[in-house]
Amino acid sequence: MGNNAIEVRGLRVVRGGSVVIESLDLSVPVGQVVGLLGPSGSGKTTLMRAVVGSQVVDGGTVMVLGQPAGSASLRSRVGYVTQAPSVYADLTVHENLRYAAAILRVEDGEVQRSLQEVDLADKQKRIIGTLSGGERARVSLAIALLGSPDLLVLDEPTVGLDPVLRRDLWAMFRRLTERGVSLLVSSHVMDEAARCDRLVLMRGGGVLADATLDELLARTRTGDAEAAFLLLVDEAAGAAA
Ligand SMILES: Nc1ncnc2c1ncn2[C@@H]1O[C@H](COP(=O)(O)OP(=O)(O)OP(=O)(O)O)[C@@H](O)[C@H]1O
Ligand SMILES: [Mg+2]
Repeated sequence: MGNNAIEVRGLRVVRGGSVVIESLDLSVPVGQVVGLLGPSGSGKTTLMRAVVGSQVVDGGTVMVLGQPAGSASLRSRVGYVTQAPSVYADLTVHENLRYAAAILRVEDGEVQRSLQEVDLADKQKRIIGTLSGGERARVSLAIALLGSPDLLVLDEPTVGLDPVLRRDLWAMFRRLTERGVSLLVSSHVMDEAARCDRLVLMRGGGVLADATLDELLARTRTGDAEAAFLLLVDEAAGAAA
């Protein structure tokens, strides 16, 4: 395991009768933000589900914080924000957090700590349905932060957020890593690549590259993550032909 928060070896996943992930390896070092980038359908959510233990896997090993993914002992050590919002629209912010805290069996004090972390303490009495999209996204994040997890798995947390909110969120991710928290964050937005310590580029259920942005740019002689990604896609297509 070494110093890795996540270690995936030879992961194979079949969904709806099709092989969605063939044989995937991935390491997420402790205290780093690893960005999972790739087009729609490339397997980002499937991989994240395998990491949090909500995906049936057909082969390989997925170790999280030294335990097999999905272990009961990981429940409050891993925070997960799904791609689709998973909060109750007719409850208040506070009620949503209290409910999640009860399920996770974390102390009530965690609710206020978490709300402060995402800057929503003053909106806790609001019904979720009356919040803006960005505020709602932060409620999901607050739920994931309950119990001060050591690993956060965030599926496209910045979709639909304005540039200011995205910047604030990334600043928060950085504060978390300074405390030793590890993050696996998926995104469609290649310009978020520059904010990650490492990048994993996915395509067709496989990993095209797993490197730092600098390594990726040097290897592909390109100027940004998007250009590097497109070059790697073309290379892979050329190699297959
Ligand atoms: N329940 C399912 N049954 C069958 N196939 C599925 C199921 N869920 C996902 N898939 C397929 O698995 C592949 C990977 O899907 P996944 O949701 O992991 O992609 P993604 O990279 O997260 O995409 P997006 O960026 O659109 O969220 C896709 O081809 C998808 O159609
Ligand atoms: Mg997805």
